[in-house]
Parts: sequence; C-alpha cells; structure tokens
Amino acid sequence: MAEPMQNDLGVEPPRADRPDEPSRVDGGRRGALKVLCALGGAAYAGAIVVPAVKMLAPSSEGGAGAARWMRVCRLADLTEGEPRRVVVVGDERDAYTVTRDQLLGSIWLTKKGEGVTALSAVCPHLGCSIDLNADKKSFFCPCHTSRFSLAGAAEAGPSPRDMDPLTVRVVEGNVEVDFKLFRQGIAERKEVG
Ligand code: FES
Repeated sequence: MAEPMQNDLGVEPPRADRPDEPSRVDGGRRGALKVLCALGGAAYAGAIVVPAVKMLAPSSEGGAGAARWMRVCRLADLTEGEPRRVVVVGDERDAYTVTRDQLLGSIWLTKKGEGVTALSAVCPHLGCSIDLNADKKSFFCPCHTSRFSLAGAAEAGPSPRDMDPLTVRVVEGNVEVDFKLFRQGIAERKEVG
C-alpha cells in the first residue's frame, strides 16, 4: 500500500475511510516531495500546493457523469483573486481493487467573494500540468507553450479547447470540488469515465 499522504508541514490529513482519525504529524516530508516530483515541479511561480485528500461522495458506479466530491481546502486558505493549486489525492478503484492514496490530478482554485472557481490543471492538449505565469496574469503549459487567461480561455498554442472547469461548492467553510478528468487532444469536452 502507498505511504500516507502528508502536506508540506509533514501533516497527514484525515482520510475519508477513517474520518474520526486525527491528522498526524511526524515531521516527515517524503509524502509532499513525492507529490511535487509527480507533478514535475508544480510549485512554480508562486503556486502553493495543498494536498487534498478527502473524497466525500465517491461514485458507487464510477464512470463519466458520476459526482466525485473532493474536499480540497478551507475557503479561508484562499486569497481573493489569486489562483492557488491543490493536489488531489484519493483512492483509485476498479471492479476488484482499491489502491489507496493515489495522485489523481491537480486543480487551480480562485476565490471570488464567497464563491470559488476551479479549473483542471491538466492541459487539454496532451495532459501536461498547467502552471501559473510568474506575473500571475495568465496560465501556461510548459510542454508546448499553450497559454490561457486566468478564466481558463485558450489564448495561444496548440490546446484544442479552454482549460476544463470543475464544479465547486463551499460547505461550512470547506471548498469541495466535483473532480473529473477529460479527454485530451480534442476540441469537445468529454469526461473520461
Ligand atoms: S500538453 Fe500542454 S500544450 Fe501540449
């Protein structure tokens, strides 16, 4: 089984399957480093990576269209108008097995008043991880230099569509995202089941 996920303070957040278990601190940083390496240096240009681990309502059937709510951070963790990346870690399931604590993807969150917008950080071209430009006025993909506005609109490069938006809700101060992945390389936005 994979090692427990930790944030960059060495804290293992509570797990969905052990909701009453408190977060643990052991001073280790290996979990956070593993995520950062997997993202190819995600903490770039002021981006702050927050591991998000809590799956609230995993699909019982799986597949496209099923809600997969992930609790990703506190609303208070976000700064008005400033995009912030969260890394999504959860359990991967197939018909026979559950693999714990897998890196599922990452999301750019932006607070706007009491609301939050979410954009998948997976590039619609070929799936590289989209970063925030150093001036924090646009997003870019380092693989083939696609550029996107802060609202996710494709502005340059080979990306066949805008960044993929995700549905967000705020529940008792927690930001929750219906986490989905989409097909790459096509203009149409089609969810991957
Ligand atoms: S993978 Fe992002 S531009 Fe090609």
